[in-house]
Amino acid sequence: MPYANHLFVCTHQKSGVGRDVAKALKHAIKDQGLKAVVANGRKLRNAVQECDCLDRCKHCKKGSGAALVVYPEGLFYGDVHPKDCAALVREHLGEGRPLAALLLDDK
Ligand code: FES
Repeated sequence: MPYANHLFVCTHQKSGVGRDVAKALKHAIKDQGLKAVVANGRKLRNAVQECDCLDRCKHCKKGSGAALVVYPEGLFYGDVHPKDCAALVREHLGEGRPLAALLLDDK
C-alpha cells in the first residue's frame, strides 16, 4: 500500500529519545485512526520508520529531543519529545498543516 505520509525518526542519540518518539508517533497514528486514509479513491498508509542521523543534530542529539522528517513534503521537525507526538500527528497527518512550533526552517 502506498504512503500518505512516511515519517523517519532519527534514533542516533544516546538517550534513546528517538525510539520513544517513534513509538509515540505509532501509538498516536493508531489512536487517532490514521493508520490508513483514503485519498482520491486510493487507500494510503501513514507509517513511521526509525533511521540514523538526519543531519539535524543541533535539534536532535545535541539537545534533549529527536529530529524527524515527514515525506512526501520533506519537512523536518526538531527537538521532538514523546509528549509532542499526539499534536504532531493530529496537525500534520490529520489536518494537513505542519506543527509550526517544532518545524525546522531549513532555508
Ligand atoms: S543525531 Fe539525530 S539528526 Fe543527527
